[in-house]
Amino acid sequence: MNIILLGPPGAGKGTQARTLVEERGLVQLSTGDMLRAAKSSGTEMGNRVAEVMARGDLVTDEIVIGLIEERLTADGGGNGFIFDGFPRTLAQADALGELLEKQGQTLQAVIEMRVNDDALVARVTGRATCATCGEVYHDQTRPIPEDGKCVKCGGTEFTRRADDNEDAMRNRLLTYYRETSPLIGYYYAHGKLRSIDGLGAIDEVKARVDGALSA
Ligand code: AP5
Repeated sequence: MNIILLGPPGAGKGTQARTLVEERGLVQLSTGDMLRAAKSSGTEMGNRVAEVMARGDLVTDEIVIGLIEERLTADGGGNGFIFDGFPRTLAQADALGELLEKQGQTLQAVIEMRVNDDALVARVTGRATCATCGEVYHDQTRPIPEDGKCVKCGGTEFTRRADDNEDAMRNRLLTYYRETSPLIGYYYAHGKLRSIDGLGAIDEVKARVDGALSA
């Protein structure tokens, strides 16, 4: 099963993707995580990517399509892939279709997660991530445990993203509505779109994702 989680920054794509990995044995391909890894490599490409991401703009199609192509070929897929934060432009969507076809694979569903802008800003500005395993927390809705240890791995270091502030978030939202939201119509026309309400407790949203996948 190959699926795309589509939605604005903070919609909960990463949170739901991690559950799908655990429960269904899917491989998560997050271009945001791949780019953050490139950023911390300190290479020239990494430094260029870091500036673009901090502003909340999109990295070039060429770079992200290259990253996805590399991983699709290397990972083999197992039970399938969850694309998290990819594609984000029509060119990326076309490229993904071609890459999957080349591998004899198909896309089962695109789950659009709908969340209003005020909730999105509140979610990203309160986010903290375990530096060891990537588990995601939120100051109000899923606080770091009082003993300061990650529930998943026991790690004690937590990071906040450079683009999780109100200024960058405004630009990330504009970029989403301008560049990425046309994919909703694109995948509707391809018969793949399933839209769910992304507001509510994480478990409630998970139940909606499961429902959309079995529809
Ligand atoms: P990326 O890392 O993909 O970030 P994003 O799309 O902005 O999405 P986020 O990771 O912010 O949110 P999410 O939907 O995963 O939410 P999460 O589950 O963490 O991209 C970053 C940058 O990289 C881009 O701006 C761009 O520059 C570049 N980039 C990446 N991909 C690219 C591409 N394909 N092309 C070009 N450039 C690309 O949840 C957020 C918070 O909310 C957490 O604190 C979580 O605990 C909380 N939360 C989650 N669910 C709920 C819930 N149901 N209720 C309450 N709180 C919740």
